[in-house]
Amino acid sequence: MDDWTFRADRVTKSFGELRANDEITLQVRPGEVYGLLGPNGAGKTTLVKQIIGLLKPTSGALTLGPHDLVEDPDAARQLCSYLPQAQMPIDSFGAQQVMKLTGMIRGGDTITVQRRSDELIDALDIGEWRNTLGMKLSGGVKRLVGFAMVTVWPGRLVILDEPTNDVDPRRRRLLWEQIRRLGDAGASVLLVTHNVLEAEKSVDRLAIINDGRLIAEGTPSSLKAQDRGRMRLQLMMTPGHDTPEMPPFVHHHTRVGNNVMATVGESDSAQAIGWAQEMMGLGEAEEYALAATTLEDVYIRLTGHRSEEEPANIEAAM
Ligand SMILES: Nc1ncnc2c1ncn2[C@@H]1O[C@H](COP(=O)(O)OP(=O)(O)OP(=O)(O)O)[C@@H](O)[C@H]1O
Ligand SMILES: [Mg+2]
Repeated sequence: MDDWTFRADRVTKSFGELRANDEITLQVRPGEVYGLLGPNGAGKTTLVKQIIGLLKPTSGALTLGPHDLVEDPDAARQLCSYLPQAQMPIDSFGAQQVMKLTGMIRGGDTITVQRRSDELIDALDIGEWRNTLGMKLSGGVKRLVGFAMVTVWPGRLVILDEPTNDVDPRRRRLLWEQIRRLGDAGASVLLVTHNVLEAEKSVDRLAIINDGRLIAEGTPSSLKAQDRGRMRLQLMMTPGHDTPEMPPFVHHHTRVGNNVMATVGESDSAQAIGWAQEMMGLGEAEEYALAATTLEDVYIRLTGHRSEEEPANIEAAM
């Protein structure tokens, strides 16, 4: 039996001086949902565009099973389904019509494509827009229709570039279920996302990309294991109050809006709670919580500061 694993092998893409992808190596096996995470400009879209032949790698190889995707962009288009980061141009088609059209262009038979588009419309709860023209759809519904278009007749590799953007929380959950099902049905799914917490629940493995380089890879649990023994102390600052000076047991911290997230050692939990309560007593903070670290903490640590010698102190003002 053919092995339909997708492989990126030392893929480098330069735009002039900029190395948007720097020797990226990863594999996505059939049945696997693989997350690609990283900050804006990290090089995620650049990588996926090379897979389907929209960009040519400066060096390195991209293969899907026996096919060389760089040498054979026709095979790439046939074997891969791709939801681009930008919205699909579907203005003058009805929602279900466009799903059926794409399914058939991709080689699906009428009956299966009809059945599958009905299923997707139900599963994503977009029935009320079944016949609405693309130009009249809201951003989130258009995103869901785009997803249904590219997965109505999925290829061996399904590439989704930020599929959950603009989608409401309830439908986002429905969408994740469908993404999982693509994997369960045997496709390899490569999924670009900024939503670390959702990815943590739904992907089998993931890579974190920063400045064009793959800086971490593994299952969500294996990546979190690097932070074993650490806790997250979350402090909701009273509006208008500056970030207090961090006590020595705080490893690093970030602030977004009034929310300060600090990483502390498990053995310092009692001290951390004492300090948080003191901040509340002083009226500096309104609320606090101490919890196990999530993948988001690992992500911030890995992408927010580069070396252990150089503690991060990212003040991301909103
Ligand atoms: N065609 C291009 N010409 C020159 N530079 C480009 C081109 N496409 C992308 N870049 C640059 O390459 C880097 C990576 O961009 P890319 O779109 O891959 O990032 P991304 O990880 O997808 O970011 P985002 O999360 O914002 O979508 C950025 O610095 C971007 O400006
Ligand atoms: Mg992108």
